[in-house]
Order: sequence, then structure tokens, then C-alpha cells
Amino acid sequence: MENLLTGMEMTQQQALDLIALGKDLKANPSKYAQALAGKSVVTLFEKQSLRTRVTFDIGVNKLGGHAVYLDQTNGAMGSREDVKDFAANISRWADCIVARVFDHKTLVEMQEYASVPVINSLCDLYHPCQGMADFLTIAQNYNDLTKVKLAYIGDGNNVTHSLFIAGAILGATVTAVCPLGHSPDAQIMKKAEEIAKETGATITVTNNIDDIKGYDVVYGDTWLSMGDDTPLEQIKAKFMPFQINQALLDNTGIKHILHCQPAHRGLDITSDVMDGPASLIFDQAENRMHIQNAIMLTLINK
Ligand code: CP
Ligand code: NVA
Repeated sequence: MENLLTGMEMTQQQALDLIALGKDLKANPSKYAQALAGKSVVTLFEKQSLRTRVTFDIGVNKLGGHAVYLDQTNGAMGSREDVKDFAANISRWADCIVARVFDHKTLVEMQEYASVPVINSLCDLYHPCQGMADFLTIAQNYNDLTKVKLAYIGDGNNVTHSLFIAGAILGATVTAVCPLGHSPDAQIMKKAEEIAKETGATITVTNNIDDIKGYDVVYGDTWLSMGDDTPLEQIKAKFMPFQINQALLDNTGIKHILHCQPAHRGLDITSDVMDGPASLIFDQAENRMHIQNAIMLTLINK
């Protein structure tokens, strides 16, 4: 594994190793205080971020390395200079590129011309660091990932795709419950299903909430992803039945809640359950840093 663009680069053993390393980084931070000493990571963001920006910056610092943040004021990738030149230049100075971009193709091009590892920190199609942080969080609460039943609820998007891919690799059961017309990408589903065939995972899409009765964990995301200009009023009525709330927990028996955040209280999730005992949401946000540190250590110190 040289880069992390889609998550499909990982074998099951590599994914399990990352989760184990993420747990150890969390439990024994002093052991890793110099693990990236002398190393530099460039983090580039074409889109907004709170969690990803902060966790990569502080995460690199906790490993004794140096993070350089390039924000949207540099403009979209490829506008001031070609992506290939960007990648070639950064590779001469830094030991890793972390990039949040509008178009997955930008990452593919960057990877082609970079001589250092490239990590996708969200694009239109994938959010692999998120998916791995989610399964680290689940692994802290469930001993056997192959027995876990995870229901994603809402818009079929980049986060859904990465949950499917990570879940397929790890042998879990992942069901996406999406309103009609908001299913995940069929081609990515197909790839996840192919992985699932090998690992024994189960990957399904439905629009019937009754299908997730007896599941363990429910997972939410914003109904409108960054770059989607659809007015909220246009989709609100369609998405309201897919809200994470106490009635959903009562009707399904689901015990735990995840949400990648940003959350929209009163829309994709209600405040009482977000702040209630079923919520693992802030553990999940913390775990972004631990899993990303595990990913960087694995890719940089190869
Ligand atoms: N979950 C997540 O990626 O959050 P940010 O967009 O704030 O980085
Ligand atoms: N699906 C969301 C995730 C935000 C972390 C988006 O792409 O905006």
C-alpha cells in the first residue's frame, strides 16, 4: 500500500493493522512522540474543513513532524499551475501529501506525478480516512467486526462509499438506507460487493427503514454535501423520515450512533440523541486523528 485514495488499496490484514496501530497510538502517545521527527506533511484543502484540517495538523505535531497547510486561497488545483507540477514540487520538499479536492481525478493525477504518498482527505467520491476512523470507533465497542451490523442513513455519498469499502474489506454488514434517487454510486457499490464476496461481508442498499431492525450502529451525514447547491427546502421533506432520532432508535433497537459531522441538529440528527448515551460521535471525531496518524506512519515510514 503506497497511497490511500479510495481505500480499496488495503488488504483486510492492512486494514486490521491500521486499526490496531490507531488503538496503540491512542493508548500510548509517548511511544510515538518522535515517530515522524524530521518529516513534513503538506495538507491541501480545496474545500472547507474543521475535523480533517485540525486532526492532520495536530496529529503530525504529536508524532514530532511538521504540517504545512495550504488553503482554498490557492484556488482550485490546476488553476495556477498544473496538478502534475504541484505534485512534483511538493515531492521535493515534503514526505507526504494530504489533499481534499472537488474531483477524484485530481488525486489520481497527483498520485501519478508525486514521488511521496498521497492521502485522500475527502473528494467527491470517497472519504477513506473517515471510513477507517469509523471502524476504529466500532472496533472499540465491538470485539468482532464481522458480526457488526452498521446502517448508514441518508444521502448515498462519499462517506457512504467509504463505509461500504472499509466494511467490505473488514467483513462487516453495511446497509445504506437512502431516499429514492439518492442511492450510492452503482459502480462503487459493485466494487465493494466484489470485495465483500471475498471477505464474507454484506453490502446492501434499501429505502426501507424497517430493513435495519436489529442493527447495532446507525450512521448519519449531512443531507447536502459540499459542492451540492440544491436548496435545502427542496429535499427537506424527502429526507426528514431519514433523520436519526429517538424514535429511530426505539423502532430499530439500534444501540450506537455515529455521524461524521458536521451535523445539522434538528435535520440529519436530533440534539437529544447526538448528546445522549448512544452517541459515539465525539469519540469518532477524536479517532480521526489516531487512525490518520496510523495511516501516515504506515505510508511514510514504509
Ligand atoms: N468529517 C469531516 O471530514 O469533517 P470536516 O469536513 O470538518 O473535516
Ligand atoms: N458528505 C459530506 C462529508 C463531510 C465530512 C461532504 O462531502 O460534504
